[in-house]
Amino acid sequence: MDIQVKQQGNDGLQFHLSNNSVSLVIETVTDGYIFLRHFGKKINQYNASNWAQFIDRAFSPGPYADNRCFSLDTQRQVYATSGMGDFRYPAIMISNEKDMGLDLRFQSYEIIEEIVKLTGLPSSHADKKAAKTLRLTLVDDVLAIHVKLFYTVFTDTSVIATHVEVTNNGTQPYVIEKIHSAMLDLEHSNYELIELAGAYAREKTFQKTPLKQGLMSVNSRRGASSHQATPFTCLATPTTNEEQGEVIGMHLVYSGDFEAGVFVDQLQKTRMFIGLNHETFHWNLAPKQTFTAPEALITYTNQGFGAMTRDMHHFVSNHILNGVYQKALRPILLNNWEATYFDFDESKILALADKAVEVGIELLVLDDGWFGKRDDDNSSLGDWFLHEKKLPKGLESLVEQVNEKGLQFGIWVEPEMISVDSELYRSHPDWCLHMANRDHLYSRNQLVLDLSRVDVQEYLIDAMSKVCTSANISYVKWDMNRNMTCVASALRQYGVKEISHRYMLGLYRILTSLTAKFPHILFESCSGGGGRYDLGMLAYMPQTWTSDNTDAVCRLQIQYGTSFIYPVITMGAHVSAVPNHQVGRITSLQTRGAIAMAGNLGYELDLTQLPQIELDEIEKQVQTYKAIRPIIQQGDLYRLLNPTTTPNETAFMYVDKDKTAAVITYCQVLAQAESPTVVLRLKGLDETASYIDMETKKSYGGDELMYVGLTIPLERTDFYAVTFHFEKC
Ligand code: DGJ
Repeated sequence: MDIQVKQQGNDGLQFHLSNNSVSLVIETVTDGYIFLRHFGKKINQYNASNWAQFIDRAFSPGPYADNRCFSLDTQRQVYATSGMGDFRYPAIMISNEKDMGLDLRFQSYEIIEEIVKLTGLPSSHADKKAAKTLRLTLVDDVLAIHVKLFYTVFTDTSVIATHVEVTNNGTQPYVIEKIHSAMLDLEHSNYELIELAGAYAREKTFQKTPLKQGLMSVNSRRGASSHQATPFTCLATPTTNEEQGEVIGMHLVYSGDFEAGVFVDQLQKTRMFIGLNHETFHWNLAPKQTFTAPEALITYTNQGFGAMTRDMHHFVSNHILNGVYQKALRPILLNNWEATYFDFDESKILALADKAVEVGIELLVLDDGWFGKRDDDNSSLGDWFLHEKKLPKGLESLVEQVNEKGLQFGIWVEPEMISVDSELYRSHPDWCLHMANRDHLYSRNQLVLDLSRVDVQEYLIDAMSKVCTSANISYVKWDMNRNMTCVASALRQYGVKEISHRYMLGLYRILTSLTAKFPHILFESCSGGGGRYDLGMLAYMPQTWTSDNTDAVCRLQIQYGTSFIYPVITMGAHVSAVPNHQVGRITSLQTRGAIAMAGNLGYELDLTQLPQIELDEIEKQVQTYKAIRPIIQQGDLYRLLNPTTTPNETAFMYVDKDKTAAVITYCQVLAQAESPTVVLRLKGLDETASYIDMETKKSYGGDELMYVGLTIPLERTDFYAVTFHFEKC
């Protein structure tokens, strides 16, 4: 890892950030203009092989009366502004009543021998000596606006972390109308844009579109990163597959409204960007104030989607996740939601606990319905005290009994919400997001608390601390079941378009406080499944409930898309009942087990209603998972067959870091007549070693499994999945 600075000519500086895999080259040119020269494969030295061409382009204005060739509109910029001759999509817009436009020129730089953490926002972390940061200061002398760009390069990953700080050093107030966290101007547009789109119960659907001239945007304006979009995009050269092809990725470490995408210009250059969604954001920047935009990550590989995935998994595990569970194996849980919904009492929960212990499950989670008078989803959010009719002996007594059986205990909460039918709403009707002169808009019959308010933040820290200390709680599932409307605060303390970002800052403050107070608790984030599965939440809560859709076949797509960028250890995956509650499909217990074992395994069905033969099978699954859990949760993921290219077949494998063990899962959706033989060529093994199939005890060479392949026995049945476990001999 290195940051080189080279003087070139009288007024030019070249900054070259690199490590073993990636290089980022930035140059200052005449009069403090600053351009991007390279982002991509690591090079030893940059000597301007792709020298900047200055050509007189029609309708592209510039600052020099005697030089028609210089225009910001035609150059690869580092951080583009509006109003100064670049007509493409800007990264930043600032104005006040009298002024607009921002003329940023390079002023100074600093090399910082570590990563710079963001205050009040989630951001990546690294040990000293494992990261270095370049800080560039750009200044608009007329407005006295200073913009600092931070780029951090790490020893162990191609990921570059970047963020932006804006300071008003003048005497006039300004409004930040738009601020992106990362921007890359690329030389050409021969890419496909990849995004993870979707819907409730259909999250993280892989979508690929060739670039076209103009704007292509991936965004959320729902107050959450959302089921519909993911704060990520990547550009891939058209023939990219799992093993080869260039992939440039961008991620935002944020959980609210965002915008990512590309703008392809008239000269077929591509501007890639990610940041806050300017439609729902602005910020009043008073004199002497600084605004920090969320952190973004930029990634590069020329070895296809597989390498991008493994690098991201490594990065998230090592530099985003925090706390005692950062890398620790996760408990196998039983959640009562699909088993009972709201209809439970103490004896039902204890009966589930008995069965859970019998099959080897480690954690029992009490989901929605344990508080207030919540018997359905119409009331009580905000009333975080016990539903005494359901649990008359108290939570502490229930948890003690569960613990005595040998199970840890976890609990569900939805702190950010408020029901109109709640004691909290009756005492604080002004605590929800709302507009004074408009009626509420309901979703699941609930409203959103105004987390931009400090009093609401304090209340939540206190209320959740009481829940966490009310019994021996080992796990908390933090849910969020609606998107935001009428995003305004009764306090009217800030500009209305500040509230959505201030909400996120409030949420992050609450999470910082609670995770510090309760370091032993495993927090799982959830938003009706994967409605807020993003790097911002993962920085506080190291696992996420991937989707409310627990159907094994649907999960193939959802888990494929999710694991494209997020590590498998973060991805909750449960075996549920059949017919499946979301889509009505009947799949075998074996298939449900095999697909749920591809993530962080749990069960979510009424074990007390299952015949002994199924309980025995679940017991076997749990034993198997305990044996392969380190390979899955801490190993490397290789995709062999993808549901996007071969929708009827999916296969993937995990190899532990030392290549001493591997788990392979193959799944056939529908049986075909006269279907071809399937021989899977495995990946990532040690080609000089032999591996033994733990079921058949047959051994094979690593090279044989990778270059000849593993035959999958033909099965004439729909929805079939099988798992193989190999250990090095
Ligand atoms: C949505 C979650 O995704 C479910 O798992 C469950 O916790 C319900 N909310 C409870 O209301």
